[in-house]
Amino acid sequence: CGIVGTIGTGATTQILLKGLNRLEYRGYDSAGIYVNDQDGQDYLVKTVGKIAALEAAVGPQVQGRIGIAHTRWATHGQPSVANAHPQFSGSKRFYLVHNGVISNFTALKEQYLADQAFASQTDTEVIVQMIAHFVEAEAMTTLAAFQKTLSLLAGSYALLLVDREDPEVLYVAKNKSPLLIGLAAGYNVVTSDALATYDLTTDYLELRDGEMALVRASDVTILDQQGDTQGREPIEIKVEADAIGKGTYPTFMLKEIDEQPAVMRRISQHYLPVDQPIAIDPALIQHVAQADRLYFVAAGTSYHASLVGKRLFERYAQIPAEAGVASEFGYHWPLLSAKPFFIFLSQSGETADSRQVLVEAKRRGLPTLVITNVANSTLAREADYHLLLHAGPEIAVASTKAYTAQIAVEAVLAKAVGERRQLGAAQSFDLAGQLALAANAMDEITDNHQAWDQLAAEYLGSATDAFYLGRGIDYDVSLEAALKLKEISYVHTEGFAAGELKHGTIALIEPGVPVITFITEQATADHTRGNVQEVKARGGNVLVIASEACQQAGDQIVIPTLTDELMPLVTVVCGQLLAYYATLQRGLNVDQPRNLAKSVTVE
Ligand code: G6P
Repeated sequence: CGIVGTIGTGATTQILLKGLNRLEYRGYDSAGIYVNDQDGQDYLVKTVGKIAALEAAVGPQVQGRIGIAHTRWATHGQPSVANAHPQFSGSKRFYLVHNGVISNFTALKEQYLADQAFASQTDTEVIVQMIAHFVEAEAMTTLAAFQKTLSLLAGSYALLLVDREDPEVLYVAKNKSPLLIGLAAGYNVVTSDALATYDLTTDYLELRDGEMALVRASDVTILDQQGDTQGREPIEIKVEADAIGKGTYPTFMLKEIDEQPAVMRRISQHYLPVDQPIAIDPALIQHVAQADRLYFVAAGTSYHASLVGKRLFERYAQIPAEAGVASEFGYHWPLLSAKPFFIFLSQSGETADSRQVLVEAKRRGLPTLVITNVANSTLAREADYHLLLHAGPEIAVASTKAYTAQIAVEAVLAKAVGERRQLGAAQSFDLAGQLALAANAMDEITDNHQAWDQLAAEYLGSATDAFYLGRGIDYDVSLEAALKLKEISYVHTEGFAAGELKHGTIALIEPGVPVITFITEQATADHTRGNVQEVKARGGNVLVIASEACQQAGDQIVIPTLTDELMPLVTVVCGQLLAYYATLQRGLNVDQPRNLAKSVTVE
C-alpha cells in the first residue's frame, strides 16, 4: 500500500494524485482521496482498480488545502470501493488512511464499538470509528482520542487522520510501517515512500515506532507515547528522479532487465576501484571476518539472491552460512552459533517480514548488515551497517536488476572478507574481470529481444505448467526464474533441483510440458544431462541453457562461462526475458501483476 498526505498548499489534489501514481507499484487494487477545501467542503472519491480510474473520477473541482490519499494492496476485505481508503467515521467527521495490519481489531470492535454500524470489512475502519467514538461519545479532544486509540492498537500502522472540524492539522502516527514527513516550502507532505514526493522536498522527519505527529502547514510537532514532545533533525533523502521514468521503453520491467549490464559496471566502479582497496567500510569487513556463521535473511527474489550469497561466502570467505526466508525465520529462530553475523537482503529496505527479524536481532545485540537498493530505507537506517546496490529505482513489481545487483554486491563483500582472512581463493578471485564478463554477456542476451520473444512463444506459448531445473547454483537460479514466470504470466511454474525430479515431480511431466534446464556447473552437468533425458523420454519439451564449458550439440542457448557462483548473473537474464515475453504474449500487465505489491510492509 502507499499513502500520501499534504497540508498548506493550493495544489493538494495534484500532489496527492501524482504521489499515488508513483506509489502505484506498491499496491493497485483500489485507491482513494479525501480533500477538504477552505469552505469546509468534503471531497471523498474512491475507485476500484488502478490510479488512472481514480484520476478520471476525481475531476478538476476537487481542490483544498488539506488532503490524504491511498493506494491499496488488500489485506482485510476484498478490493471494493467500500474497503478502499480513506475510511471515515459514521459521522463523516474523521477520515483516515492506513498502511499495515491491526491484529486486535476484532476485539477492539467488540469492546468499544458493539453498537456501531460498519461500512467496510477493513481493520482501518475500526480505527477511525474508535477515534470518532472517543470524541463524540466521551467528549475527548481529537488529539486525546487519537492518542488513546493508538495506545490500544496492536499491529503495524502508518496513519494519516483528518478531522474535518479542524482542517489545520494532519494527525500522523507510525508503528512498524514506513512513514516520512516531508518539509516543503510553506507546506508539508507525509508519505510512506519518498518516491511519492521527491520533487517537492529532500528534507524529511522520520517518525520512530510508537510516535505520532501533528503536522500543520508550517510546523510539525512530534510526540512520543507518553505525549512528550520530541526534537528531531530532518534527514536528507534524494531520489534519482531521472531514473524513475520509462524512457522509450514500453514497460519498466524491460527497461530494468536491459539496465543490468550498466548496473554491473556501476557496482564494479563503485566497489572495486582500480588499484585501490575494495570500497567497503573496513569495520564491516572486520566484523564479518570475525563471524563463525552468517545468517542471510530475506524474502522473495531477495531470498533467492541470498541462496547465492551463502555459496559465495562459503567459497571465498570460508565462513559457514545459512539462508532463511524472513517470514519463517522470525518465528523459528535456529540455534545460533557463538559469533553470528546477520545479513539482510532487501531491494526496498522496507519488507516487514525482514524488518521483524532485524528488530529481534538488534534486541539480542547481534551484528547486522542490510544490503539494499534504497538509501535511507527503514532497514538501511536501522541496521549496524548497510551496503547499497546502486541499481537505480526498481519500479516493476517483478524484481530483476536488484537480484543481479545483490549477487554482485555479495560477491564484493565475500571477496573483501576472504582477503581479510588471507584466503588464496579470495585473493585470486578476479571479481572486476568477472563482472565485466557478466556485463558483456548480459548485453549480448538483452540485445536480442526478438529471439527471446520467439523462444517464449515456442516453449511457453500455450503452457499452463512449466518447470525450471538445475543443480547447485543452477538450482538456485531455477527458483528465481520460476518465480519470475509464475508471478507475471500466471503459468504454474516450479523450480526444481534436477536430481529431485525423479523422486516425485516427474509424475507431472506430460508430452509438451516445457522444462527449461540450466546447465552451467561442470561438476554436475552430466547428471543434469541424465535428468534431461528422463524428461525427454516422457515427452517434455526441453529448452537447455548451458554455459560454454558445459555445452553440447543441440543446446538451444549457450552463454559465456563465469565462475560457478556468478553464473546466475547471466542465466537469470534468460529466465527474466522468457517470463517477460510469455507474459506479453498473454496480453497481461507485465509491470503490475495481479495480487502482488512491490514492497510488502505487512507481516
Ligand atoms: C515483494 C515483491 C517481491 C520481492 C519481495 C521482497 O513480495 O513482490 O518481488 O522480492 O517483496 O522485497 P524486498 O524489497 O525486501 O527485496
